[in-house]
Amino acid sequence: SRNIRLAVIPGDGIGVEVVTEALKVLEAVGTKVETTTYDLGAKRYHKTGETLPDAVLDELRGYDAILLGAIGDPSVPPGILERDLLLKLRFELDHYVNLRPVKLFPGVETPLGKARPEDIDMIVVREGTESLYAGAGGVLRRGTPHEVATQESLNTAFGVERVVRYAFDKALSRPRKKLTLVHKTNVLTYAGDLWARTFDRVSLEYPDVTTDYCHVDAASMFFVTQPERFDVIVTDNLFGDIITDIGAAVAGGIGLAASGNVNPDRTAPSMFEPVHGSAPDIAGQGKADPTATILSVAMLLDHLGLTAEAAKVEQAVADDLVERLTGWAGRTTHEIGDDITARVTG
Ligand code: IPM
Ligand code: MN
Repeated sequence: SRNIRLAVIPGDGIGVEVVTEALKVLEAVGTKVETTTYDLGAKRYHKTGETLPDAVLDELRGYDAILLGAIGDPSVPPGILERDLLLKLRFELDHYVNLRPVKLFPGVETPLGKARPEDIDMIVVREGTESLYAGAGGVLRRGTPHEVATQESLNTAFGVERVVRYAFDKALSRPRKKLTLVHKTNVLTYAGDLWARTFDRVSLEYPDVTTDYCHVDAASMFFVTQPERFDVIVTDNLFGDIITDIGAAVAGGIGLAASGNVNPDRTAPSMFEPVHGSAPDIAGQGKADPTATILSVAMLLDHLGLTAEAAKVEQAVADDLVERLTGWAGRTTHEIGDDITARVTG
């Protein structure tokens, strides 16, 4: 098979550990990969003050894909690495689709007692470049009793339409062919109106897709009470951030939640990362579960058209998860990585 040129950003904390295991699986699945590692993250920031130098960003544009571990460390003031590294990558590489499957694998425990794998099988298409993440707004009289802070949600017709179209295509490709718009149109009357009108207009081109609408607060409840309502969801950046953490929780925890920051137009590489963060409290102890990153590698393979390899990795994870039922608790990061690697090799 063809040679993948992959940029790897292990990042901070457990990011380094989980990426090591995911790369082992990637190599074992039989794809030829050529990896280049970038030391972006807290260490580089402390050493040089740099988060994402322009020269590095330009270099990253040349890869087929990017694998990212996790970014963030308590030694760096909150917001800096998030905004100037992670979000900058998503914005600059035009990752307008943040793809987040919420899928309960057989054998995985869910806090929703009776839910079965067929009840929790959705995919959240979270917009990735706009909304409250755009950084619009400002502050007046900061630090005084009269401080005024505004944070505006930026939504463009172009930005909303392209992600909505992607979601309709995604829904059409799945057996249930159902797409739910999640927003808060009853309060966010300007942004919600743009989303709802765009959704309705595009839906006319997809007569085979069943559509639905759900306010984000109700959707949060239904994630827990009736997850089977959902197949594909399309939503804005912040709502998507919040509901996918709920999704991760109901589908077995943050250790299993994978994601792709996708540029569907392929004008720049897409970037795959676990939904979890750098977990500094358990970093370096071999306690992190590399499964979310390994599943992110499956998404990466799928994005690059290596569907058989992607399916193989996902199946290896599924088999490993079933085995966990029978008492494999306490494996280290390394051991889980080795076990899943052995399954894709064999
Ligand atoms: C995520 C994270 C990020 C986000 C943070 C770290 C900026 O929570 O990937 O979900 O809000 O998108
Ligand atoms: Mn998040």
